Amino acid sequence: MTDPRPILVTGSSGNVGAPLVSLLRAAGLPVIATATRPQPEARHLDFEDPATFAPALAGVGRVFLMRPPHISDTRRYLRPFVRAMEVAGVEHVALLSLMGVNPAMPHWRVEQDLRASSLAWTFLRPAFFSQNLGAAYRADIRDRDRLRLASGRGRTSFIDARDIAAVAAQVLAGPVAHRAQAYTLTGPEALDYHRVAAMLSEALGRAITYEPVGLLAYRRDLVAAGLPSAFVNVQLLINVVARLGLAARVDDTLPRLLGRPPRTLQQYIEDHRDLWRRSGSKP
Ligand SMILES: NC(=O)c1ccc[n+]([C@@H]2O[C@H](COP(=O)([O-])OP(=O)(O)OC[C@H]3O[C@@H](n4cnc5c(N)ncnc54)[C@H](OP(=O)(O)O)[C@@H]3O)[C@@H](O)[C@H]2O)c1
Repeated sequence: MTDPRPILVTGSSGNVGAPLVSLLRAAGLPVIATATRPQPEARHLDFEDPATFAPALAGVGRVFLMRPPHISDTRRYLRPFVRAMEVAGVEHVALLSLMGVNPAMPHWRVEQDLRASSLAWTFLRPAFFSQNLGAAYRADIRDRDRLRLASGRGRTSFIDARDIAAVAAQVLAGPVAHRAQAYTLTGPEALDYHRVAAMLSEALGRAITYEPVGLLAYRRDLVAAGLPSAFVNVQLLINVVARLGLAARVDDTLPRLLGRPPRTLQQYIEDHRDLWRRSGSKP
């Protein structure tokens, strides 16, 4: 029998968390959203404040766990949360990890902590999100008609975060079938950034160009933009991974689980065109 207790969604305003809350609610499942600032519609949860853990987890049966992008010291911030989930009697945790996860990455340490715990778990290991075009890369596309990156001709199997949410919803709705599974989740095809720029150009009706730069020049750009060093390092790593062809893997786990093909990058761009329109331009 599936646990009748509610499902707690961490990062519920985020790329995967937000559509996950909607999907679980639409399926009629009991869901509790969380927020780092107290809000009427969500429980307060801040991984940097352990006093929020027990109240957030009270009565919860399943958890969607995400590592906020700025948290790299997972031993300090997420390991105590794993312990708190055990103490609270949580049954199953779906962790948002990363494709190609390895011991140098914070996600790996959270995976290890879950493996060492008494909790049942499922690891979701997605590729690079399509949503990054509307976040980290948004201003460059909207304001400068360009993607200036150090990914060379490397290809990336962009996944739409809405599809990751769909897999997470399936796992959390019936966790027993997904116990101790690690799912690599990708989009349907791997594209280089020349192709991505062409897709954006067509959807937006203006020329968007991919400007490949070297890693040092890319780093200089990010530093000159005043971005925090942790963010700069993550962006560099993402570009090295793509450049080396390590972001190009296409995997059939997602269509196998969902019984439908993954959303394409084209679909993501078409659904979010307004993100890259300049104010005053015609829709
Ligand atoms: N982006 C990618 O391409 C990609 C690919 C593979 C894996 N991943 C992994 O997926 C995860 C999510 O990445 P994302 O870029 O999609 O991030 P995101 O969901 O946009 O992250 C923001 C979320 O983190 C929450 N948050 C921030 N600080 C927190 C804290 N101290 N305690 C609890 N929650 C906190 C925020 O909640 P509030 O709004 O309430 O502050 C917000 O919901 C990361 O671990 C990332 O490495 C990302």
